[in-house]
Amino acid sequence: MICSVDSYLETERLTLRRFTADDADLLIELDSDPAVMRYLSGGEATEPEIVRERHLPSIIAGYEKWDGDLGLFAAYEREGGAFVGWFCLRPEPDGPRDRTELGYRLRQPSWGRGYATEGSRALLRKGFTGLGVRMVWAETMSVNRGSRNVMEKLGMTLTDTIPTPPDMEMVEGAEHGGVRYEITKEQWARC
Ligand SMILES: CC(C)(COP(=O)(O)OP(=O)(O)OC[C@H]1O[C@@H](n2cnc3c(N)ncnc32)[C@H](O)[C@@H]1OP(=O)(O)O)[C@@H](O)C(=O)NCCC(=O)NCCS
Repeated sequence: MICSVDSYLETERLTLRRFTADDADLLIELDSDPAVMRYLSGGEATEPEIVRERHLPSIIAGYEKWDGDLGLFAAYEREGGAFVGWFCLRPEPDGPRDRTELGYRLRQPSWGRGYATEGSRALLRKGFTGLGVRMVWAETMSVNRGSRNVMEKLGMTLTDTIPTPPDMEMVEGAEHGGVRYEITKEQWARC
């Protein structure tokens, strides 16, 4: 059985835990900030019904599918308990478990403090040393410099450029397409 309130991962300053069915408001608030959504939807908030009926159920179904080991996790400051945002480490829906995507979406007050790097670094360590992960990839828009900087700080390598998905064509900088970064367990071990 998965105990959803248990901590999933602790870093120096952050605690990551699994989301529960009661957490829709956290995700709705996060996705309602145009600055957070700038390179995801062009600034548009995610509809609350979409969060309640699609996103959150899919996050929770992921814990069942991957035994609570992989998925999307809520992050909090250990000191003070403020909600910071989320991190994810998860395979493609039907992909192998040893190839996982890294992602992060943080609340604006949490930016610029090294949290994205700190949480991601800990996720890479957990994935590579404890969860059988052999390769991690991450994708972002070419113009999302903050996100790319995190990937580069983690030691990930730019491996590909990718076309902008049709549903993101209205996003600022969409004409420059996207980028894909990767890191293997062997590369990570040499970092
Ligand atoms: C992108 C995001 C995750 C960065 O989080 P963060 O916690 O501020 O990142 P960090 O503090 O770990 O910064 C890592 C590096 O990137 C730099 N950086 C962060 N944001 C930046 C920005 N907007 N522009 C340029 N550099 C930036 C930092 O200065 C740091 O480099 P340094 O250590 O050399 O100074 C955060 O801004 C966010 O959640 N944005 C909205 C959602 C989003 O775009 N997610 C990614 C989608 S793929």
